[in-house]
Parts: sequence; structure tokens; C-alpha cells
Amino acid sequence: SIVDSQLRTGYHFQPLKNWINDPNAPMYYKGWYHLFYQYNPKGAVWGNIVWAHSVSRDLINWVSLKPAIEPSIKSDKYGCWSGSATMTLDGTPAIMYTGVNRPDVNYQVQNVAFPKNKSDPLLQEWDKPGHNPVIVPEGGINATQFRDPTTAWHADGHWRLLVGSVVTGGSRGVAYVYRSRDFRLWTRVRRPLHSAPTGMWECPDFYPVTADGRQHGLDTSVMANDKRPVKHVLKNSLDLRRYDYYTVGTYDREAERFVPDDPAGDEHHLRYDYGNFYASKTFYDPAKRRRILWGWANESDTAVDDVAKGWAGIQAIPRKVWLDPSGKQLVQWPIEEVESLRGKRPVSLKDRVVRPGEHVEVTGLQTAQADVEVSFEVPSLEGAEALDEALAYDAQKLCSVRGADVKGGVGPFGLWVLASAKLEERTAVFFRVFRAARGSNKPVVLMCTDPTKSSRNPNLYQPTFAGFVDTDITNGKISLRSLIDRSVVESFGAGGKTCILSRVYPSLAIGKNAHLYVFNNGKADIKVTQLTAWEMKKPLMNGA
Ligand code: FRU
Repeated sequence: SIVDSQLRTGYHFQPLKNWINDPNAPMYYKGWYHLFYQYNPKGAVWGNIVWAHSVSRDLINWVSLKPAIEPSIKSDKYGCWSGSATMTLDGTPAIMYTGVNRPDVNYQVQNVAFPKNKSDPLLQEWDKPGHNPVIVPEGGINATQFRDPTTAWHADGHWRLLVGSVVTGGSRGVAYVYRSRDFRLWTRVRRPLHSAPTGMWECPDFYPVTADGRQHGLDTSVMANDKRPVKHVLKNSLDLRRYDYYTVGTYDREAERFVPDDPAGDEHHLRYDYGNFYASKTFYDPAKRRRILWGWANESDTAVDDVAKGWAGIQAIPRKVWLDPSGKQLVQWPIEEVESLRGKRPVSLKDRVVRPGEHVEVTGLQTAQADVEVSFEVPSLEGAEALDEALAYDAQKLCSVRGADVKGGVGPFGLWVLASAKLEERTAVFFRVFRAARGSNKPVVLMCTDPTKSSRNPNLYQPTFAGFVDTDITNGKISLRSLIDRSVVESFGAGGKTCILSRVYPSLAIGKNAHLYVFNNGKADIKVTQLTAWEMKKPLMNGA
């Protein structure tokens, strides 16, 4: 049946049951990683929102605690919505979150909460001071679209944070800046940090990244100075499109303004993920000096299926995130801890040529719950097709017109994952290379996930997902990694330059009946220089 317990993920973050959405206030405190998240304690659909709370030593094995923040005061009586944690100067975390304070409309205010007992590394109890709410919508702010405070950053004796909104009566997404000395009294800075004609900005995130070509993360309060090459990233979740986009740019602290490097950046060309990934949030991990990204992956089956399953929503595998040496985009990679789940006996292929129309099965392991890394080599780019000018800037359209089964020149080539033995079901994760567009000598690389054949169940929402990969493939080399986990396929192209998460619900390719193949639907040979596939163990997952 569709509602198969085998579709529940094995190593992606999930509670025992019920609905989840946004990750909230991720942080590291006294040896423990904390993850809070939007949770419905009463069912598998959105509603009755509280902050559920789990803790981990390694971001892989999770123990569930009781909800940390639940409706209990006037200013959060009708919902405890998304927010973030900030490490204050004495090392105590402060949580800022959105409270809904009216039953009739979603009137939104911002509240603060502090740990009851700072010496409890599990931070089990949270106090809401009597002076809540600390930020209310005033001065013409749209009170029903005013939420999701960020982690605050500190400079010149003041904390600053962003609240996401949309301009009243309009469609400009906006990030308002608030300043405070004490997390109690907040004043709005007259001009917003940034705005763009995109619709509502949910779950903004704003943080520095090092621009020295290295991968270490920076604390949220780090600023650029003469000696320190630092860029800032502004991310917003687009309510209307259901995806997260970001821009890389400069933060001018004097003016409290952010300016994207790319003037067209707000046309949302850059996304963390071109698939199902929303309301994400980063945090700085001081234990390993890295910045880590959490993102929510919704279901793509029906609400009826969700109720029958008794659960809905997962968190993507946490990703380390850093600025690409080009300075133009971010790079993401699954945190190294996930490799601790790899089984002892990986299967590998080496220097295997895959001819046009051929597919090669990777056998000798169970692949419903697996980690696969592949290095491809394209011996010749001569057969690459010309790029259809009309589609040249729209990866999504390009991929929906030319799915995995449309024969190409160089590609489509890649993986069929969660495939049934006779291939009635399969999810394709692949590349396709096009000749350089006019005025450039760089071939264009497209990365796609095509789930249109992922299940025989007809009631699923399964669009193709795609993004361009900004990589130089003139040497013929490109890599792919896929984290496969029963009903999710999370893929990283070219070392994490382009990422695509897809939820799929096979009806045949489940458990031991899930197969893995390398395929090539192009006219040119493809070489798998190296493929390694590991079965993935199941960590402790909130008692499941
Ligand atoms: C994003 C979001 C947030 C809000 C929360 C409510 O998915 O809509 O803007 O705070 O979910 O659960």
C-alpha cells in the first residue's frame, strides 16, 4: 500500500509521529546540539503549533524532550511560531519567536524566552518574562505578515535582528531591522535591511561567510574589516513559491543596509536547494567552527496519506555551508557525522564505461537507505546539444521539457534510485550538458531530479526539479552524491554546488525491493571513474 511503514525515513530527522515544519533555534550548548521545530502535538496536519525539542551529541542520534515553548501567555496563546536562538554575551542563549495573540486573525508579535536553568545542558525549561511581547507591529507594519525573528548579531553595544514581512498592501518582501541593548527593549531601524518585489519574506536568515576561499564558519556577529574578507548572505523563504533563495553581498553596518553583489540577485536565481526544502535556518557551530544549515522537507503525497501514515514532514540532513572560492555562490555538503552511519561493506564500481542507452545495476547491497558517491567522466563534449535559447535561463522548464527519458547528446546520465526490479518505478537524478551559450566558452550543465516515474500511485505531486551547475566541465569531470532514505532522495551535484531534495513514495521499490542503477540516455559514452555505495544504519531517532 501507499501508506507503507517502509516509507518512513531511517536517518533523516523525524519525531515519532505527527506534523512538523520549520527548524527553529538550532544551537550548540555545553556539548549538546539542540533542534527545536514547529510541531502539531495533535495530528499529522498543520495546526496547534508548539516548539518541539530534541537534543543530540552528534547531529545524527536524537533524543526527544518535552516541548520547550508552548502557548502559555497572552502574546502566544494562538501559536508559537518560528524563531531563532542567539548566544548572548555571557553565554546564555536567548530565543526570540513569533507569537500569535488573536484567535480571529493571525496577528503576530515577537516574544523572548530564556532558559530557566543555565546549567542544564539540555535546556529543558524555558521562561517567558512578563514583559512579553517585546516587539509589536506598529508604524504601518502588516500585523498578519510579521514574523520569524533571526539570530541577533552584536556590534557597538547593540543587538540587531530581522523580522520578515511584506509591505502593507503591496508585494514587496521586506526584512525589518530591530535594535536592542538587552533583548527587552527593541526599536525598529527606520529603513529595512533590504526588500525586493518577491512577495512575503518568511524565515529570513542573515549571516557572515568567510571570503578567503576556506570553509570555516563565522559567528553571526563577525563583520568585515580591513584584515578580514567577509561577505554576508541574506536568505528568505518565499511564501508564494515555497522555496528559499539567497543573495551574497555586503552588509553596511553604519547604514544598516545589505546590498547584493549581483544586481539581479533578487530575481531568486540562487537557491540552497532546487527541490523540496523550505524555511531553512543556519547556526554557527563553535565545536567544529562551521556553519550548519537545517531545512524542512514537506511531504508531497496527499494530506489523506499523511493522516493515514500518522506523520508528515522531515528535516533535511544538516549541511555544512560555506562561500565558494568564486565568491558568487554557496557550497553545501552533508555534515561529516553522517558518514558514521555508513555500513562496513561498501560496493564500488571503477572505470566502468556506460554506453548510450545502457544502464548498469549496482548490486550487493540494500539501497533503500543508502549513501552513494559517483565521479563521472565525459570523454568528449563534442556531441553536446545546443541550448534552446528560450529555455536557457530556466532550468526548471528545461528539465520538465527534457526529462530523464528524452535522449540527449551528452546526457541525461546519472542515477536511477529507488527503482523497482523491472524499472516500472525509478527516480532519476542526472546531469545533461549543453554547448556553451552565445558569448561564452563554458558548457552549460543542468542537474535534475525526475520523479515522474517514481511511483505507480497516481495521486502524488511529483514535478521535476532542476538547477544549473556553475562548474567548468571542459575537463569532462563531474561528481554526484545522493543520500537515499526510503521516501527522500537528497542529491549534491559537483561537490555541493547544486542541491536537489525530492520526496518520493514508491509502491514497489521499497525495502529490499529498491534497486540502484547508473544510466546513460545520451549519445556519448560516459565513464564512471568511481562509484561507492554504502548501506546506511539507523541512528537513534527520537525513540522511533
Ligand atoms: C514557514 C512558516 C513561518 C511561520 C511558521 C508557522 O513555514 O509559515 O513563517 O512562523 O511556518 O508554523
